[in-house]
Amino acid sequence: MTMTPVLFLGAGRMGAAIAAGLAEAGAVRADDLILIEPHPGPDVAALARRGARLNPGRDVLAQARTVVLAVKPQMWRAVAETYAPHLAADARIVSIAAGVRTDALGKAFGGRPVARVMPTTAVAVGKGVASIWAADPRDRAAARALFAPLAHVVDLPDEDLMDAATAVSGSGPAYVYALVEAMAEAGVAAGLSATAAAELARATVIGAAALMEKSPETPEALRIQVTSPGGTTAAALQVLQGETGLGPLMTAAVAAAVARARELG
Ligand SMILES: NC(=O)c1ccc[n+]([C@@H]2O[C@H](COP(=O)([O-])OP(=O)(O)OC[C@H]3O[C@@H](n4cnc5c(N)ncnc54)[C@H](OP(=O)(O)O)[C@@H]3O)[C@@H](O)[C@H]2O)c1
Repeated sequence: MTMTPVLFLGAGRMGAAIAAGLAEAGAVRADDLILIEPHPGPDVAALARRGARLNPGRDVLAQARTVVLAVKPQMWRAVAETYAPHLAADARIVSIAAGVRTDALGKAFGGRPVARVMPTTAVAVGKGVASIWAADPRDRAAARALFAPLAHVVDLPDEDLMDAATAVSGSGPAYVYALVEAMAEAGVAAGLSATAAAELARATVIGAAALMEKSPETPEALRIQVTSPGGTTAAALQVLQGETGLGPLMTAAVAAAVARARELG
């Protein structure tokens, strides 16, 4: 299955991160990238200097084997209407537009094969997570091949689960940053300076994530390893894992994100 050239309809924050990540990983050559972007940022300009075709004539679009739809959800229909007539009949569409369903995408792109992917912003550093859904296993495989160099790929068994995956992983980096903020604020309340508290919170989360990445153990096992019975961590966890602690709070937060995705969809 030939994946390249890869056309990006929209190379803003996410589209540019994916395109740059693919080139950086050596998965796609820069001159196999075609980028349609009205306001190219520095990453896109750098790719163009390395040979990516930026805003070429419409006749070039028919060369694309894979088309990544990476515009804001509210403009996807207009973009599909503009570009679909210029694509090859068998080009594969990979959409990262939150909440836009494959049946609607398939219709708007003239029945071309479609896959949906929900990536996290860490694709920019090759440490993303990408939830994937496609009805056809070949489209799923194509989306997996595109994102595997940049992300830990998770296959979803049902398109309806895309909202839940988005609520856990797409929005997840924000939860972790909020945790760091809350740890820093708690450190200040316990008497640390704002600078020391912020440094400690940030570096602790980075270190814990790095250990978790290296370890085959579950997060639960890692937590137990650093919690001596009757010690200080155990005292904190009694609060954090109590009846009104992190568990119910996170469940409510993820449910709110899912509900919002349904409203937007
Ligand atoms: N950011 C994330 O964390 C994240 C995570 C997962 C999925 N997503 C999805 O990724 C998609 C893009 O999000 P984003 O954050 O990357 O938004 P963004 O930075 O606004 O990127 C969209 C880009 O598309 C460009 N565009 C507008 N009209 C166009 C047209 N007619 N043809 C081609 N390009 C056009 C926009 O240009 P202008 O500057 O002119 O508007 C913009 O640069 C969204 O659907 C979102 O749901 C984002």
